[in-house]
Amino acid sequence: MDKEQIVFGIVGNPVGHSLSPFMHNAAFKELGLKAVYKLFEVPEEGLENFFKKLREDDSLIQGLNITVPYKEKAITFLDNVTPFAQKAMAVNVVVISEGRKLVGYNTDGPGFLAHLAQLNFNIQGKKIVILGAGGSARGILTALMLLPERPQYIRIYNRTLERLDDLIADLSMRLDVSILKSVMSIDDLEIERADLLINTTSVGMKKGDPVLVDENLLHKKMLVYDIIYSPLKTTLLKLAEGKGAKISNGLGMLFYQGVLSLQHWINRPLEEKIKKKMWQNLEAHAR
Ligand code: ATR
Repeated sequence: MDKEQIVFGIVGNPVGHSLSPFMHNAAFKELGLKAVYKLFEVPEEGLENFFKKLREDDSLIQGLNITVPYKEKAITFLDNVTPFAQKAMAVNVVVISEGRKLVGYNTDGPGFLAHLAQLNFNIQGKKIVILGAGGSARGILTALMLLPERPQYIRIYNRTLERLDDLIADLSMRLDVSILKSVMSIDDLEIERADLLINTTSVGMKKGDPVLVDENLLHKKMLVYDIIYSPLKTTLLKLAEGKGAKISNGLGMLFYQGVLSLQHWINRPLEEKIKKKMWQNLEAHAR
């Protein structure tokens, strides 16, 4: 490999399905940056050593994305995290700064909000329901709860109730969770009254996956946002579309978190033409 070439990449397990290389490598080319974005599939037992090696002076890695299942665990290996990432207690971006210090950011939540803004969805006063309490829900919930334009409420359901209780107990240590209500049954989400339904679970990625919600509760006054982007239109989105709801898959969120990640790595805003190239390459490879 060219010794001068700097390296960025995504750490997770698995990472083979990631679309991030397409948008970032396109951006590097457009920026004239001698850099490459790689996939780092790291097993749990190798994670500590991976972060240790990042600190070595001869490491070519200048920045990383962190994905499933390491967004929470990675924090323990970093020198510093931003207040937002600290509140979410989840990191999906690492910047390697002067002296190879490792600084963590979270661009999942802000990426989600940026996409909602692009969709002209104003959160203030809205009734929001969320499916899932995993790593993705963490970033999204934190971003929604820190907004000055507060939703009317957020109702959230997770298959494993204990995980949901743990998530809310954890977030409540750092955030005002008064608008957040966990429900024990999916039937208590009140989807029929909701302005926005967000699926943060992985249900819908695989062929033959069930739809978690009763399709008869979906309606035309709502936006149904599925953070899944493969497939581009999950069964949930198809049913919602059939009911006249507005729909969105997660490709926009992926794009905006990627734009924000790259801005952190190069420490400056990206021009529109670079963002456009990133979007085009992402879209071209999405299935
Ligand atoms: P991510 O970081 O993408 O959120 P995750 O942390 O593994 O990934 O979370 C996956 C989410 O999908 C969880 O909310 C999970 O529910 P559990 O906490 O009960 O596991 C949810 N999920 C996965 N498979 C599911 C299924 N078959 N039915 C309902 N929820 C499911």
